[in-house]
Amino acid sequence: MILGIETSCDETGVAVYAQGRGILADELASQTGIHAPYGGVVPELASRDHIAKLAPMVESVLGSAGIALAELDGIAYTAGPGLIGALMVGGSLAGALALGLRIPAIPVHHMEGHLLASMLESPAPDFPFLALLVSGGHTQLVAVAGIGRYRIVGETLDDAAGEAFDKVARLLELPYPGGPALAALAESGNPEAFRFPRPLKHQGLDMSFSGLKTAARLAIEAVRGAAAAPSDMMRADLAASFQAAIVDTLTAKCARALAETGLDRLVVAGGVGANRALRAALSRCGAENGVRVHYPRPALCTDNGAMIAYAGACRLEQGPAAPARIVARPRWPLDELMPPARH
Ligand code: KG4
Ligand code: ZN
Repeated sequence: MILGIETSCDETGVAVYAQGRGILADELASQTGIHAPYGGVVPELASRDHIAKLAPMVESVLGSAGIALAELDGIAYTAGPGLIGALMVGGSLAGALALGLRIPAIPVHHMEGHLLASMLESPAPDFPFLALLVSGGHTQLVAVAGIGRYRIVGETLDDAAGEAFDKVARLLELPYPGGPALAALAESGNPEAFRFPRPLKHQGLDMSFSGLKTAARLAIEAVRGAAAAPSDMMRADLAASFQAAIVDTLTAKCARALAETGLDRLVVAGGVGANRALRAALSRCGAENGVRVHYPRPALCTDNGAMIAYAGACRLEQGPAAPARIVARPRWPLDELMPPARH
């Protein structure tokens, strides 16, 4: 029975995962209201809110799961990558509780959590698979052979997909967090109204979104120059056309990576994985290529405690517990991870 704690950025996530039984309880506290006036995450405010929310959430999650602290076998926490102050809040509480309970504290790589989130769904994907990791800070294609056996086959050379969504959302004067707001606006727009570039679409497996972001900015400025304020329809068309360019690029890269690696399963992970248009396009691509596509439900795509509990359970099951120290790494390349000790 593993408690999972996620505090890498602007969401406090706590969950209990039990081997063989799944997620027993899962709570999330979003800091959207705190950061919205600033248009983005303010790290110090994020840390303070994690401090205020985390301990009561642990109590409440244990209550919902109907278990006592003493029944836990380990406490998994996000050790990075993320905001250092925010990471330290989760790491400190996990480390202190684990020390008191004499159970292991398990440092988890946030992206490994995302990568394994679809294992919480049924049917869970079998190894090996190709993972498309698309979050606010990462956009990577990863060939996954097993826990901790990750080969990054392609990644963004500049902005992450989620970052591009957030920046263009801001240009469209949408409220923070921009990605979901832009996706909602795009629902009523015409994806072919503006022809945005698909950078590097036909070259290799790496991606680039900064040129697309600039093209979107220029188009938005041109529309503004022509009219005092763009009409709602024009804004929806801009959003839909931008989203289509990202979806199209990510789908083409997945198709190429599947062909090049010979893998026949695709797993989608990370916040942008909640995007409806992306999910639909990847499903179509999978159907055309005989590839099974797995997605976690949207709540498990974005940050959550369950994926951290699950990743911690996998690591604890397969290897000895890490030495008792708190790990917090703002930067942490996914492919530095090793398989758990027993493999
Ligand atoms: O994985 P995540 O929750 O946090 C990070 O680890 O970064 O991803 C957050 C990112 C943000 O950039 C957010 O705007 C984006 O995922 N996002 C979306 C959607 N939901 C979240 N982007 C597009 N469409 C969505 N529905
Ligand atoms: Zn994340």
